Amino acid sequence: KKYVLDLEVVSNETLSDIHALIKLRAADPLPEMYPGQFVEVRVENSTSTFLRRPISVNFVDRRKNQLWLLVAAVGEGTRHLMTLQAGDKLNCILPLGHGFTLPESPGERMLLVGGGVGVAPLLFLGSEIHKIGGEPVFLLGAKTKTGLLETDLFKQFGRVCITTEDGSAGEKGFVTQHSVLNEERFDRVATCGPKPMMVSVARYAEQAGIECEASLENSMACGIGACLCCVEKTIDGNIRACQEGPVLNTRKLLW
Ligand code: FES
Repeated sequence: KKYVLDLEVVSNETLSDIHALIKLRAADPLPEMYPGQFVEVRVENSTSTFLRRPISVNFVDRRKNQLWLLVAAVGEGTRHLMTLQAGDKLNCILPLGHGFTLPESPGERMLLVGGGVGVAPLLFLGSEIHKIGGEPVFLLGAKTKTGLLETDLFKQFGRVCITTEDGSAGEKGFVTQHSVLNEERFDRVATCGPKPMMVSVARYAEQAGIECEASLENSMACGIGACLCCVEKTIDGNIRACQEGPVLNTRKLLW
């Protein structure tokens, strides 16, 4: 079941010149949501028509009844979100799509690989794994140190490994070059970020003989399966990323 809710902005924290963490509060208990699912938020543009933008669930704070969204200002709509202030209302349709598979047992060694703003759903996923007693390893990458988001929050739920392309933090290079991949074995991988990164992560998983799920960042408009602008080719034919995804097993993808 999907809900259309007017959520109240509790805070809007600038994390970098293009990133913000928006915490939203609901009047009634938030519905069940799973890591990897997303929300369609209503944003205004200069012609004051309303558009919706898909934003993945960054975290759900059940105690405070808050939903967190990590936003990258990449266009007019998302830039508008950066200007929201405490007390403003944000109309959201949620929860949408299918999320990540949670580990079957706390002993399952999960590697969560994120790049740029793609780290967003991995915080929620990591918190759910931590909740059942698991110890996820987060492998987080960015071009440069300022693009690393929420690192301290990730540390609450597991071990954090970092790469930056310019070497300004963590190991220098791409996530798939991090030493942890050679030194440790994992049972399963979850990834979200730019497509070239996810393709490399999927290759790593294939070579390691383990399952990998990726959260597709296909452009979306309606978010509810109607416009077909998010179509992805898979071994089972075309699927809509907003309906059958956004999280899919990478073995199904024609990457
Ligand atoms: Fe419209 Fe997926 S976004 S069908």
